[in-house]
Amino acid sequence: MPILSLDNVNLTIQDHHILKDISFDVEEGEVVGLIGPNGSGKTTLFNVLSGFLSPSSGSITFHEDDITNMIPSKRAHLGLGRVFQHFGIFRDMTLEENVMVAVDALPKKQRAILGDMNDIVAETLEMAALTDHAKKKAGSLSGGQMRLLEIARTLKSGKELFLLDEPTAGVSPKMTQQVAGIINALKEEGKTVIIIEHDLPFISKICDRVIVLDVGSVVLEGPPDHVQKSKELCEIYFGADPTT
Ligand SMILES: Nc1ncnc2c1ncn2[C@@H]1O[C@H](COP(=O)(O)OP(=O)(O)OP(=O)(O)O)[C@@H](O)[C@H]1O
Ligand SMILES: [Mg+2]
Repeated sequence: MPILSLDNVNLTIQDHHILKDISFDVEEGEVVGLIGPNGSGKTTLFNVLSGFLSPSSGSITFHEDDITNMIPSKRAHLGLGRVFQHFGIFRDMTLEENVMVAVDALPKKQRAILGDMNDIVAETLEMAALTDHAKKKAGSLSGGQMRLLEIARTLKSGKELFLLDEPTAGVSPKMTQQVAGIINALKEEGKTVIIIEHDLPFISKICDRVIVLDVGSVVLEGPPDHVQKSKELCEIYFGADPTT
């Protein structure tokens, strides 16, 4: 049984049909890449999945729960996590404290599976390659480091399904590798990830499957090599197949 299931999801805002009949399943433990040109509806789809927008029609199921119209906090309680860029990092607190407050704010069930606080703090900072900065104020981090902290903190939060919107945008190649390492670590823990990225080689390396959106519709879906080599993808991104 899939962990997430979308059935004919549509979203219209002010006569603008942004998401069109989107249907797909995600299996538990899968890492799925969501790609497509700018404005194709990827972030909007995440807003619908995390509950910040309600679909105009269609349904979304998470495990066995119909979450189509459920508020974001309730979805998060059920185990659906979304990473926001620089959201909820307290710049005046140390990195350790930033992890602790996030753990303390978790619902009891998710807090319970995480175990000892010192271990969680150590593992989270290690995941973000920030162990040496544990006692520093978060405000002293670079933009990229802050992003890694936010990603690692959310990913260590006991959730089951993670939505990552362009986690490598604006970060160095080394940090991109660290993000890949974090996602691989999650995969080993059996977690499920949906990741939006424009970096196709990165997507090919870490994803089991790729879903391509264009003008609000799913136009292509399959294993990364298959999608990357397809003529359709070339046409969507570049407007023509260069081999013809
Ligand atoms: N609240 C809104 N009201 C009206 N139009 C919106 C709203 N949110 C998004 N859109 C429109 O929906 C379309 C999809 O936007 P979205 O941000 O989901 O694209 P995206 O695929 O994430 O693009 P990018 O790769 O540039 O991040 C765009 O045309 C955008 O202008
Ligand atoms: Mg976007």
